Amino acid sequence: MRSSMLASLVVFLASSAVNAAVLTGSSGATLKCENEVVVSETFIGEEQNVKLTHSHCDDAPFVTAQGNVVSSLTKRQGDPSNVCGAQCNTFCFNPAGGGPNEDDCAVIANALLFDSQNGKPLFNATASGTGTEKVTMQFHSCTTYFLNQASTDLTYCRSDWSSLVTWLASDCNAANNAHGGLCVAADQRWYVQVQHSDS
Ligand SMILES: *[C@@H]1O[C@H](CO)[C@@H](O)[C@H](O)[C@H]1NC(C)=O
Repeated sequence: MRSSMLASLVVFLASSAVNAAVLTGSSGATLKCENEVVVSETFIGEEQNVKLTHSHCDDAPFVTAQGNVVSSLTKRQGDPSNVCGAQCNTFCFNPAGGGPNEDDCAVIANALLFDSQNGKPLFNATASGTGTEKVTMQFHSCTTYFLNQASTDLTYCRSDWSSLVTWLASDCNAANNAHGGLCVAADQRWYVQVQHSDS
């Protein structure tokens, strides 16, 4: 409990510092994984109703720590490979309209917490370009994914992802002139996006 509160706090502080910043190098549209190859698909959460996918993007949209969208990135290595609690910078997609329903995102956030509290606190995303570097959760209108941008495998906490989904769904909502957003690691090794499932 204590560590997950701490993680949430880190996310909050890191995010609020660059509240509602806008990505550069993009049209404002949510970032899309092109030519996605799905490796596995299952359902998670107490109700087993949140779809979990592991996949690879042939043309992944990468994001620098400063929120610049680029087609290639010098892949960083780093220690530790467990990035739970790591700081990330928030960027929203403007303008309002076409974002996910926050209630749907809340179902994903709860499913992540449920799994976290039921024996699965951690998950892996393999190194960028290796086949399962993208981990996606979807419930109705809300989709979120974790993308590994690093040259090494990463391990992340479901409770942190849950906090990020809650944070991004509200901080990058229509009231904030946005339709989703992402949080990119301060060291650039990963990002988490929240978006409408159909965008
Ligand atoms: C993640 O990968 C590491 C290294 O391969 C492995 O030891 C660990 O069990 C994996 N963790 C999960 C949650 O799959």
